[in-house]
Amino acid sequence: MVYCAHNNKNDGGSMATISFTLNGRLQQVEAEEGMPLLWVLRDLLNLTGTKYGCGMALCGACTVHVDGQPVRSCLTEIGYVAGRVVTTIEGLGQVDALHPVQRAWLELDVPQCGYCQSGQQMSAAALLARNPAPSDADIDAAMRNNICRCGTYQSIRAAIHRAAELQSLAVDAMASGRETLA
Ligand code: FES
Ligand code: FES
Repeated sequence: MVYCAHNNKNDGGSMATISFTLNGRLQQVEAEEGMPLLWVLRDLLNLTGTKYGCGMALCGACTVHVDGQPVRSCLTEIGYVAGRVVTTIEGLGQVDALHPVQRAWLELDVPQCGYCQSGQQMSAAALLARNPAPSDADIDAAMRNNICRCGTYQSIRAAIHRAAELQSLAVDAMASGRETLA
């Protein structure tokens, strides 16, 4: 499920100081409350991994997580994220500790032009967080509104299955580590 948090005012609104957690750190921005989160991320905070595609919640290129849910940042007003937890592609993993989705994407060499891929990965990560072993049908349902003009859909589906395996292996390794320490 994808949420678009907006009120269709699109009139900008008044300036405000908005505080939220961004990629694990407290963040404050001065912005009009109606400014799309996407513009705040890209233009005010220089986090350009999140892409602009359609601006109408139709393509998924701008997908980020708000409180763990996939959200279209092009139609999510910054005022909505006050006090919430936002994760972008820059915070999904670390260079030395990639998210299983990022590892799988690399293993299977998924991207072509790459433009849609941060949104694809954010949607895939949200899917795996709520469903650690998705079927093909689950994947197709969760990813159907993430458009790829290069047609990487088969690779994306395979990479999500691989990411599920990697995630499961990591959970098993943590569990056995805990047993060793106990
Ligand atoms: S840019 Fe937001 S869904 Fe297309
Ligand atoms: S990889 Fe080019 S649009 Fe998806």
